[in-house]
Amino acid sequence: MKLTEIENIYFHHQIQSLLKLSRIQEMGQYIQHGHTSCLEHCLTVSYYSFLLAKHLNLQIDEASLIRGSLLHDFFLYDWHNPNSHQPFHGFRHPRIAYTNASKYFHLTDIEADIILHHMWPLTPTPPHTKEAYIVTLVDKWCSLKETFHRPCKIKSLSPYACYYNTSTY
Ligand SMILES: [Fe+2]
Ligand SMILES: [Fe+2]
Repeated sequence: MKLTEIENIYFHHQIQSLLKLSRIQEMGQYIQHGHTSCLEHCLTVSYYSFLLAKHLNLQIDEASLIRGSLLHDFFLYDWHNPNSHQPFHGFRHPRIAYTNASKYFHLTDIEADIILHHMWPLTPTPPHTKEAYIVTLVDKWCSLKETFHRPCKIKSLSPYACYYNTSTY
């Protein structure tokens, strides 16, 4: 299961404008799970959310799915360091990521839904859109693999690794 050439180009077209922002690149400094940075995690979730939607032939807002998932963990701190943030990171970080993302981007309703509700069912309010349900699912799958040091690598991202502040793709 992989993206077609055209889908791959579309995916990169959508994420490139976000990746130009230094605050997005800053996510590369923070570990999310295992050895995977927050930026790598968000890229992986974005890629596999889009891939899953294409594979299932779902009628969705593709741009919002790709962009919202790239921003879903845009909280900008090391959550492993208790001094760097307020308690209850798991519950609070969707709202922090949403506030950060709103500062730099005009978010669609679907992008906002993805960011705010991706931690459901840990957080009580479920997603409202298909796009957010996809990201909720893919985020958990990627997080599990990263935690057990088996991150999902995306071979087609390797030509773009310089944009991603990472050499692992
Ligand atoms: Fe998250
Ligand atoms: Fe995540």
